Amino acid sequence: MTLLKVDNLKVHFPIRGGILNRVVDSIKAVDDVSFEIQPGETYGLVGESGSGKTTTGKAVMGLNNITDGKIYFQDELLNKSGKRVNIRKDIQMIFQDPYSSLNPRKRVLDIIAEPLRNYEKLSKQEEKKKVQELLEK
Ligand SMILES: Nc1ncnc2c1ncn2[C@@H]1O[C@H](COP(=O)(O)OP(=O)(O)OP(=O)(O)O)[C@@H](O)[C@H]1O
Ligand SMILES: [Mg+2]
Repeated sequence: MTLLKVDNLKVHFPIRGGILNRVVDSIKAVDDVSFEIQPGETYGLVGESGSGKTTTGKAVMGLNNITDGKIYFQDELLNKSGKRVNIRKDIQMIFQDPYSSLNPRKRVLDIIAEPLRNYEKLSKQEEKKKVQELLEK
């Protein structure tokens, strides 16, 4: 089983212009990118600023439209025509400024518990125990 497979991915953003606001050109943010990640592997995608790393990640997450290509997660095609397979529990994105995900007005417990609240049904006690375990780890 391949964990993640990106096949000839293209993400083009339209540039509009003129008085009719028509599409006059496009930014080829990602243009024919392919790679595979096997289970247990750590994969580093390196490139100069503006070369399309974040756009590639967002396409995998379903956060932007894909112009062409295929994305498979655990051998399952994610971008089936018309609908998108839900993988939100299995793939998460850590954005470039990770500290912005730590809301300074929230308690540590609530920050760590937030994803648990989204995906699991735990009692208050269980939740607190789990958060403490995670902090310990
Ligand atoms: N929503 C969008 N609309 C139009 N152009 C976009 C959009 N998002 C990204 N781009 C353009 O696509 C290209 C790739 O951007 P991207 O953010 O993926 O690069 P990056 O490799 O992550 O760069 P950095 O190392 O600076 O984070 C850039 O030219 C960017 O301006
Ligand atoms: Mg980026």
